[in-house]
Amino acid sequence: MIERLLELKKQRNAVILAHYYQSPEIQDIADFMGDSLQLAQQAKKVEADVILFCGVHFMAETAKILNPNKIVLVPDMDAGCSLADSTPKDKFLEWKNAHLGHTVISYINCSADVKAMSDIICTSSNAELIVNSVPHDTPILFAPDKYLGSYIKKKTGRDMVIWDGSCQVHEIFSEIEVMNLMKKYPNAVVLAHPECPENILAYADFIGSTQKIIQESIISDDKEFIILTESGIIHELKKKAPGKEFYAVPNINGCSCNECPYMKLNTIEKMIKALETLEPQIIMDEDTRLKALSPLERMLEISR
Ligand code: 13P
Ligand code: SF4
Repeated sequence: MIERLLELKKQRNAVILAHYYQSPEIQDIADFMGDSLQLAQQAKKVEADVILFCGVHFMAETAKILNPNKIVLVPDMDAGCSLADSTPKDKFLEWKNAHLGHTVISYINCSADVKAMSDIICTSSNAELIVNSVPHDTPILFAPDKYLGSYIKKKTGRDMVIWDGSCQVHEIFSEIEVMNLMKKYPNAVVLAHPECPENILAYADFIGSTQKIIQESIISDDKEFIILTESGIIHELKKKAPGKEFYAVPNINGCSCNECPYMKLNTIEKMIKALETLEPQIIMDEDTRLKALSPLERMLEISR
C-alpha cells in the first residue's frame, strides 16, 4: 500500500502534510509534519499541484485559503473538530454583533466562515503574541477555545470575552491519573497543551503547543515526561528524543491513552483513494476565502 501511495503521489505531483496527531504510519510517510502553525506556514509555500492534508477539516481548509490554486484533498471529509463545531456561523455573528468595538481573535480551530468574520487568527503557538499585538485599550473577543482563552487571559491580564467551546480530547484527561503518574514517576516533567482545563494545567511544569512540547522534550536535560496532549505526538517524541521516556495520560473514560477520533479517521487506504480519485477536495467560494485570508495573513505576519 505504501508503494502504491508513493507511486500515486509522484503521478499527481502531490505533497503530504500531516499533523502530529496522525497515526504513526501516516507520520512516517508525510513530506512535512507540523503543529497547526507550522502546517499553515508550510501550506503557503507548497509548489506541488496537490496537497493531501492528513489532519482535520479546518487545517485543510486553511491550506486552501492560503494556496487557492492547489487541489487540497482530505482522506476523510468527516475528520472534524469539536472546537470548530462549537461555533456555527450564525451564532458567532450574533455574538460578534453583541460585542461591537472588540477585536475578534479566533483560534485556527474554526471554520473558514468564522475566520472570515474574525480580525486575527491565532494558534496555540502564538496566542499570547497575537493577543499582545492588539492595542492595550481594545477589548478582545476570543473564540472558540475557553481553556486556551482563559489561560491566555490570565497570562496577559487582558480584557477578553471568551466563547464557550472546548477540545473534546484535551478536556477529558483524568486528574487522578495525572497524580498517579506523578507519584509513579517522581522525576518526570509534566508537559501540557493549553487546550487542557485549568485543573489539569495546574500540574504542568511546561505549557505549550504540540511543536513547543516536542521542542521542550528535545532540549530538556530531564529524561522522563508525562504528556498531556493527544497521544499521537509520542511517536514523534520517541524519534526526536531517543533514550527518553514518555508517559501518556489516560482519559476519564479509562482509555490508557487519549486519542482524537477525528484525526484517527485518516488511513493509508483513504489516502490512496483520495489520490486516485482526487476526492474529497476542499472547495470554497472566493468571497469567503478572501475574507478568511486577511486575518490568517495577519497572524502569519505577526508570527514571522
Ligand atoms: P496545535 O497543533 O497547534 O498544538 O493544536 C493542537 C490541536 O488540537 C490541533 O487540533
Ligand atoms: Fe479538534 Fe481536539 Fe481533535 Fe484537535 S484534538 S482536532 S482540537 S477535537
